[in-house]
Amino acid sequence: MTAFTRRNFLKSTAASAVVLGGVAVYWPRSSFAQPTGGMTNVLKIPPLETGRDQDGVQVYDLTMQNSTTEFFEGYQTPTSGINGSYLGPTLKVRDGSAIRFNITNDLEEPSTLHWHGMHLPARMDGGPHQVVAVGETWASEFTIKQKAASLWYHPHLMHKTAEHVWRGMAGMIIVEDQESDALPLPNNYGIDDVPLVLQDRTFTRDGRMDYNLSMHSRMMGMVGSIPFANGTYAPYFEATTTKLRLRILNGANASTYNLALDNGASFMQVATDGGFLEAPVEMKLLQLAPAERAEIIVDLTAGENITLVNVAIGGAGRGMMGGENNNAVANPFLEIRPAASLTASAELPSRLTTMEWLDEADAVKTRVFSLEMRMGMGAMMGGGNSHSINGKVMDMAHIDEVVNLGDTEVWELKNVSMMPHPFHMHDVQFQILDRNGKPPAPNEQGRKDVVMVNAGETVRIIMRFEDYADPDSPFMYHCHILEHEDAGMMGQFVVV
Ligand code: C2O
Ligand code: CU
Ligand code: CU
Repeated sequence: MTAFTRRNFLKSTAASAVVLGGVAVYWPRSSFAQPTGGMTNVLKIPPLETGRDQDGVQVYDLTMQNSTTEFFEGYQTPTSGINGSYLGPTLKVRDGSAIRFNITNDLEEPSTLHWHGMHLPARMDGGPHQVVAVGETWASEFTIKQKAASLWYHPHLMHKTAEHVWRGMAGMIIVEDQESDALPLPNNYGIDDVPLVLQDRTFTRDGRMDYNLSMHSRMMGMVGSIPFANGTYAPYFEATTTKLRLRILNGANASTYNLALDNGASFMQVATDGGFLEAPVEMKLLQLAPAERAEIIVDLTAGENITLVNVAIGGAGRGMMGGENNNAVANPFLEIRPAASLTASAELPSRLTTMEWLDEADAVKTRVFSLEMRMGMGAMMGGGNSHSINGKVMDMAHIDEVVNLGDTEVWELKNVSMMPHPFHMHDVQFQILDRNGKPPAPNEQGRKDVVMVNAGETVRIIMRFEDYADPDSPFMYHCHILEHEDAGMMGQFVVV
């Protein structure tokens, strides 16, 4: 990826193709993914939920529910959502404020809601140990201690995360702080500051999106054929300002997206998983692994439509197949239609934040995590321990790592398998020290909670465990390909 983003992304003469560092990228004109009618649906904007004040606590009521959603005219697809039929509201929270998320389970089965990227006490994390039974309400209460960032939430029930997310349960969280207040970035929700939950889904002929794992998807993760943004099929967004801020979440179960603008123009990345980069980074191609976020600023010209596309590079990732296809295909995620006259946005600041860089010399311990997959028939049939970390499959009753409060540690992530694995850990935001000994790309030099570890790669990350010790409640670390997580590519750590 590092080398790839630096290559030139040149516009070709044909409207439907661009050349990406020597690779021709074609827009499929006739496939389901891009209807001949073009992008025909207004982008849905998840409702913004700011909570209600109850004796100094911001309270948010969230109900997990089953319903149906009309993604395609005339087809009612059975789905699940939070306070709605598919996906959930965007929760706006503020650093320093005491909050309570009331989670009510109106499903027909247990589930959980996890605050991905949030620094909080483990028992409030909404992981596999905080199960919300059918008909019950669980209150997750804590004080936000977080830099301004775009986080998200999703179910995390043991062995069921993938299916519950696939059915539609996920939403974004916007954290604000004094730093974000002071920055002249677009922040008018739904107008020039737009959340984008990117996903892919597959449908049956009668419009259901059943979660049926084939042997292949059990191994590789569930990949859909149709791109969605905020649960909208073939969406467009009517922009009214010269700059548009997109808070992008890769909300897919297993797909890595390679995002670009169809005219080959560059955009500025201003934030990664855990908040602002020190300075905006100019990008032409942005790789987002499952669960990763990026905030980007796109420059718009009045009346000139542009499309955010996913460029398929070398199939499912850059692991198995390696290399790059000669003919990659791009699928459109969102068409942006600027108005005939636009309101001028403020200039982008050259500095966004100051990172407190953790020093390897302060690390008291290095832990090694080996990311493993066993192929072969036994594993394919779901019978074996096909996905593991350090030879172990997730066991809810077993604590894998014990960390001391206040310590700085280095975690060395070694991918010894044949495909990329996006590694995620709860509780903290980490920093990437190096990939195979080389510094990370500029847009990865920030606070992260997911890092792609490519096949054969060793990625070293550094983090400090602050604030919350609890010997009885573990945090998780896992591959964020949800089928891998569900298959046991997950472990537990406690902070003591
Ligand atoms: Cu996004 Cu353990 O989760
Ligand atoms: Cu998480
Ligand atoms: Cu994985």
